[in-house]
Amino acid sequence: MKTTSIVFDAYGTLFDVNSAAENCKDKIGDKWKSFANFWRTTQLEYTWLRSLMKRHKDFWQITEDSLEKSMEVFGIDKNLKNELLNLYKVLSPYPEVKKVLETLKKKDLKLSILSNGTPSLLKELVHSNNLNGLFDDLFSIEEVKIYKPFSKVYDLPINKYKIKPNEVTFLSANTWDVSGGGNYGYNAVWVNRSNAFFDYLDYKPKNEINNLTQLLNLI
Ligand code: LAC
Repeated sequence: MKTTSIVFDAYGTLFDVNSAAENCKDKIGDKWKSFANFWRTTQLEYTWLRSLMKRHKDFWQITEDSLEKSMEVFGIDKNLKNELLNLYKVLSPYPEVKKVLETLKKKDLKLSILSNGTPSLLKELVHSNNLNGLFDDLFSIEEVKIYKPFSKVYDLPINKYKIKPNEVTFLSANTWDVSGGGNYGYNAVWVNRSNAFFDYLDYKPKNEINNLTQLLNLI
């Protein structure tokens, strides 16, 4: 089936989730990277656990809760909390992102983000990085109040564009999100930026790329 819609995951795929801690590395010290990884892992665990417990909190609240735990675990000065949260609102995109989106925008394709992020977080990320006007839609799980990889999340672009799942090419750097979208029926492409290992979750992506520029060869 021909791709009519390109759907991007946001955090880790378009935007560098480590960039908040990296911008404070002078204050955090050498452990900044382990701290950033722990924060990200805890944040994701909270999304899955809250979905299973049916106790939804939005992604911004989860980002703050997981930051608090991570700061305690790593013994980081509490005064840094607001700085880290403010930096998380304006995470940097990966270097190739803007150019790739501009190239894709010239083609007859719907371009969107499908993310755990709240609508206002997604808007701010797009705005602060001068990516305005490049996306047709910013789909947030807040519409269904349950986190990825629940199938209702992957329904969002399908329902809006009235298309079949296999018309979607879905890009994510998060292996479990690739598995979620792939099992749903998307053509899910793994953006493997760091030479990582894939999961055993009933889906192996047909395509694996190291950065988004390589997507232009697949479309
Ligand atoms: C998102 C997370 C999974 O943007 O990165 O939905």
